Amino acid sequence: MSRPAITLKHIGKTWTPEGRAPVEALRDFSLDVMPGEFVVFLGPSGCGKSTLLYMIAGLEEVTGGTIHQDGHEVKEPSAERGLIFQEASLFPWLTIADNVAFGLSIRGTPKLKRRDIALDILRSVGLGDMGDKKPDELSGGMRQRAACARALAMRPKVLMMDEPFAALDVQTRAKMQDFLLQIWRDSGASIILVTHSIDEAISLADRVVVFTARPGRVKTIVPIDLPRPRPSRDPRYHAYRDQFAELLADEVDRAFAEQEA
Ligand SMILES: Nc1ncnc2c1ncn2[C@@H]1O[C@H](COP(=O)(O)OP(=O)(O)OP(=O)(O)O)[C@@H](O)[C@H]1O
Ligand SMILES: [Mg+2]
Repeated sequence: MSRPAITLKHIGKTWTPEGRAPVEALRDFSLDVMPGEFVVFLGPSGCGKSTLLYMIAGLEEVTGGTIHQDGHEVKEPSAERGLIFQEASLFPWLTIADNVAFGLSIRGTPKLKRRDIALDILRSVGLGDMGDKKPDELSGGMRQRAACARALAMRPKVLMMDEPFAALDVQTRAKMQDFLLQIWRDSGASIILVTHSIDEAISLADRVVVFTARPGRVKTIVPIDLPRPRPSRDPRYHAYRDQFAELLADEVDRAFAEQEA
């Protein structure tokens, strides 16, 4: 068996905001993500999903445990670990092509080549003729595709996405999921995607990691044993849906009970 792309060992994270009580976001969280694997994080609000992505990306420090990528400890951000934030995060003052080319300057790609690469990738996400537009001239779905293109331009080995499609309408969301599965296959990257949508989890994941309420721990890991594309009419699909609904209901109840306490 090959080496994991990402190894999380006993991760803990306590936020200590100035002048306020510390918040334990994650506790003893361990997980391996394999090369080329599609992992979905599912869990109640506030259980530390975004926090964990920031730490894997190297943008935040763990307060316990270790994170390794390909056997090397993660200490800082790297082009090999791309993160697409909860809100599409394009620079509004740059054109779409310049947004995509932006990270390549950090990688040391020569200027002329950057634009070629950017336009190539934009074509691959169906935005070939949008390169000269500004983000606010695009629809929400197009902006998310542009954000994907920018992340993919860096050729990351691990692509993390924090509720990337939450703001989109149902039809656009389904299209974006198809599109994501396609670029996932083409890129060979591992993907870690956070969602609140049970259907999205079942449609996309090789494995779904269900979090407990805060402090987030691994409640259970469910492999989705269905061929893709995954027809929602399949009785097995419904069985997964029931299983996740039950797992989440427990944790959402716990999260609410804690908030009221
Ligand atoms: N920068 C920060 N400073 C202090 N506390 C933080 C910070 N970021 C997150 N937290 C706290 O850590 C906990 C986990 O937050 P996080 O954003 O990771 O949850 P989440 O699972 O992504 O939630 P959601 O599903 O609502 O996006 C929350 O209690 C949150 O208030
Ligand atoms: Mg979040």
